[in-house]
Amino acid sequence: MSEFAISARNLVKKFGDLVAVNDVSFDIKRGEIFGFLGPNGAGKTTTINMLVTVMKPTKGQAFVAGYDVVREPVRVREKIGVVFQDNTADRNLTGWENLYIHGLIYGLKGNELKRRIEDALEFAELTKFKDVPVKNYSGGMMRRLEIARALMHSPEVLFLDEPTIGLDPQTRAKIWEYIRMLRKEESVTIFMTTHYMDEAEKLCDRVAIIDHGRIMAIGSPDELKSSLGGDMIYVKVSGYVDTVRKFADEVVSENIALSYKIVGDMVAFSVKYASKAIPLIFELANMFSIRIEEIKYTQPSLGDVFLHYTGRELRDEEGSWKDMMRARMVARARMRR
Ligand SMILES: Nc1ncnc2c1ncn2[C@@H]1O[C@H](COP(=O)(O)OP(=O)(O)OP(=O)(O)O)[C@@H](O)[C@H]1O
Ligand SMILES: [Mg+2]
Repeated sequence: MSEFAISARNLVKKFGDLVAVNDVSFDIKRGEIFGFLGPNGAGKTTTINMLVTVMKPTKGQAFVAGYDVVREPVRVREKIGVVFQDNTADRNLTGWENLYIHGLIYGLKGNELKRRIEDALEFAELTKFKDVPVKNYSGGMMRRLEIARALMHSPEVLFLDEPTIGLDPQTRAKIWEYIRMLRKEESVTIFMTTHYMDEAEKLCDRVAIIDHGRIMAIGSPDELKSSLGGDMIYVKVSGYVDTVRKFADEVVSENIALSYKIVGDMVAFSVKYASKAIPLIFELANMFSIRIEEIKYTQPSLGDVFLHYTGRELRDEEGSWKDMMRARMVARARMRR
């Protein structure tokens, strides 16, 4: 068994002249939560569509759960669960009925099917609402139902396309909880897309930054941020200038910081990871009998990383406004059905 749940090799997808996905390669380990972070139109959904066998790549190869997405699509589909960007549950059916139909499609039957429906409803905390038509669900309930449905046949790999799109902050946090729980309790590998930086940062073990169909950077949120040169720690000290200088020199020669600058009673250290350096700085200060009056640090955000690698801002606000409009249009179209 391959150590990777997903491997993409030079994936390309063209729509006429438009190159929506441009030579994308990555490996995702089993049990990992991997995020595709990019703005509207970056190529996130197109990449997912190729991995879940909805679209054929123009070029390149991909393996999911060990199977080739082009040559063994049926095998791939047996191993995966998918939550699409736009909700696909039938609004006129109840939560229970939606899960029932999905189970039938996956060949579940009888008591086994009923048990899995009950489990799915419980996981999504929707048992109380199982007989309510989905059109009366809130946005968060709907998204939870979609996730629970994708899990009914115990997939090895779960694809989530913008799992929290258009939801309020509390509901988003709740969905993050579900995703973490899944990885912990079911050891499912999760591939998700998002254009929310906080989501990528809080949830993902590793993130690929994608723009105009290309992966611009890939790594853990911490690695990506430190690739920009790391964190800054500002220490306000009291003590003789000479002692402060000796202390700062020692911090650098002990490889705790990369460099420092003294400005008045403040020492600014440039470090790789602030969280690792701070306790060591306190220790050394103690040895030099220097009192630390105040300490603070700044960390580059994934937004800074995005700006660095793409030369553009992620335009989060514009994105969320667009999402809202899109969510409303989809909701209206469904209401008319
Ligand atoms: N079926 C299609 N036919 C033609 N062009 C398409 C098709 N699907 C996507 N595209 C184009 O490919 C590009 C990438 O689209 P994609 O939906 O993958 O982006 P995305 O990153 O998922 O964006 P969003 O955040 O808006 O969901 C866009 O320019 C889009 O207009
Ligand atoms: Mg998309």
